[in-house]
Amino acid sequence: MLENLDPLPADSILGVTAAFRRDASPDKVDLGVGVYRDIDGNTPVPSAVREAERVLLAEQVTKTYVGPAGNLDFNQRIVDLALGPLAARLRERTATIQTVGGCGALRLGAELLRAANPHAVVHVSTPTWANHEPLLGTSGLTLQRYPYYDPATRSLAEGPLLDAVGRLPSGSVVLLHGCCHNPTGVDLDPRHWTALADTIASRGLMPFVDLAYQGFGDDIEQDVVGLRILAERVPELLLAISCSKNFGLYRERTGALAVVGSSPQTAAAIATHQARIARRLYSMPPDHGAAVAARVLADPKLRADWMREVAEMVARMKSLRSLLADRLAALRPDLDFRWLTRQRGMFSLLGLDAARVTALREQHHIYLPQDGRVNIAGISDGNVDRVARAVAGLSG
Ligand SMILES: Cc1ncc(COP(=O)(O)O)c(C=O)c1O
Repeated sequence: MLENLDPLPADSILGVTAAFRRDASPDKVDLGVGVYRDIDGNTPVPSAVREAERVLLAEQVTKTYVGPAGNLDFNQRIVDLALGPLAARLRERTATIQTVGGCGALRLGAELLRAANPHAVVHVSTPTWANHEPLLGTSGLTLQRYPYYDPATRSLAEGPLLDAVGRLPSGSVVLLHGCCHNPTGVDLDPRHWTALADTIASRGLMPFVDLAYQGFGDDIEQDVVGLRILAERVPELLLAISCSKNFGLYRERTGALAVVGSSPQTAAAIATHQARIARRLYSMPPDHGAAVAARVLADPKLRADWMREVAEMVARMKSLRSLLADRLAALRPDLDFRWLTRQRGMFSLLGLDAARVTALREQHHIYLPQDGRVNIAGISDGNVDRVARAVAGLSG
């Protein structure tokens, strides 16, 4: 039976990592997969996370199951982190389940939407993270796109975006990136969030926010101002949270899906659906990452250490953006690269077509996904000149 399976093409992002590993050149540069890297090119475990792990290991007395909803303390703390004081006001109307990373939250959210309305259409930004479509579409929901990014100005396509969302039929699901839009680095400002929230509320749309980079734009609080504007104004909300990047917990697969319903009764019903979907997919989430994140958030010292470490990561990404923009501007004074410093988070689109991305790889050993998305954190003092020279030569 299994001989019927033909090999599939490589994943658009993970395939870049695999190709990078195969390249024997000592000068190769990986600007592909979305993991943070420090000055030495490593993806560190934050010291607050290490300390929490040490304490947990010493304290843990059982490995019994955690239950389909996972770690309830983590669920509450991670939603508090995202929604701030609003979380307490919405608590009775919120059902939260711990998930297998942000991907698990997105997939579980899609399954929940399908249970509520099998004909729901999810609208995603153009462009969006390469895994949104497979994660959400596999559950059977239809996907459509709304305009978001203007490649000519390398900024938000504000008019077309607001216009398109304003014309969606009632019941449409709108997937929004909480901050640090992947792949463009172009975020909504509070004015846009307010306008979108009003449209979503008045047209009866369902907002689904993917929050995978809280703290990677400006800081933990600033990055969720827009999300909180939205949460305050809409009756229902799905929120997929990932702890992979900001807690450095990538492989521990830590996340949550928080769903705000219009009443406590609806929230109670939502919780039963979440638990059933989880039970049927994987039964229960892993314990470790959520226990670690909960401990970091609960302990004032660990929390302060962690916030400082996230701030250091952001400062590094901002300085790398300036460094790359300066080097490119020096090499190509005819072109404007300041947009790199206006965009936020780990990603930006270099604006190179697939042929130029291939040239970067084949001629310069620089690896990016085919859409030309660059992981800013992959830049370093050691490779910035080479990257800038290669990109400058292929730009314009
Ligand atoms: C936009 C976006 N959403 C969600 C995720 C999910 O991350 P994970 O499943 O690793 O927690 C990612 C990871 O790269 C992402 O970039």
